Amino acid sequence: MKVLDTERLTLRELSLADAAFILKLLNEPSFLQYIGDRNVRTLDDARNYLLQGPLESYRRHGFGLLLVETKAAHIPLGICGLIKRESLPAVDIGFAFLPEFWSQGYALEAASAIVAYGKEVVKLNRIVAIVSPDNERSIRLLGKLGLSFERMITWPEDGAELKLYTTDAVRSVQK
Ligand SMILES: CC(C)(COP(=O)(O)OP(=O)(O)OC[C@H]1O[C@@H](n2cnc3c(N)ncnc32)[C@H](O)[C@@H]1OP(=O)(O)O)[C@@H](O)C(=O)NCCC(=O)NCCS
Repeated sequence: MKVLDTERLTLRELSLADAAFILKLLNEPSFLQYIGDRNVRTLDDARNYLLQGPLESYRRHGFGLLLVETKAAHIPLGICGLIKRESLPAVDIGFAFLPEFWSQGYALEAASAIVAYGKEVVKLNRIVAIVSPDNERSIRLLGKLGLSFERMITWPEDGAELKLYTTDAVRSVQK
């Protein structure tokens, strides 16, 4: 199901037919380094990831990570979308693209559309993002999207120190 169109891209719901693309993307060194190892090694693993991750999220929340593909030729470039996690105070935006499609503004184009969709369609009043302090490309993208650094958080799953970014411009003053 198509969710969004941008100038160059289509963002649509993932399906089990995207397993081969997911298998490739989730084993990219950049994905393993900055997002983590989802232990997806076979097409069956990828189908299980899709079932338990994005597809379950569509069912539960009505949103989730989407496939980003070129509008004309339907070439899959990456994934981008909204994620609801127990461990975060608000819905966060996530994105990952195959390296061969970096540096062309595709991630910015897809993520800008997701931020607008989150605010206008899902009616979120706040969108956050978590990022490793050394993930310079992602931090640059978050800045272009208008998110600002809020604070460091310790990720409960692995104890990693991550930066929390938010669409909120004004931070509450702690007394
Ligand atoms: C994070 C990630 C999605 C960023 O991808 P990206 O390609 O750097 O991001 P953008 O789409 O904003 O592209 C920016 C570049 O495109 C260039 N560009 C070219 N054409 C452009 C256009 N039409 N519009 C905007 N920028 C354009 C920009 O100048 C910029 O150049 P630079 O790479 O020399 O700085 C990518 O690095 C990735 O998938 N990383 C692995 C997964 C990951 O870390 N995810 C985030 C976890 S928090």
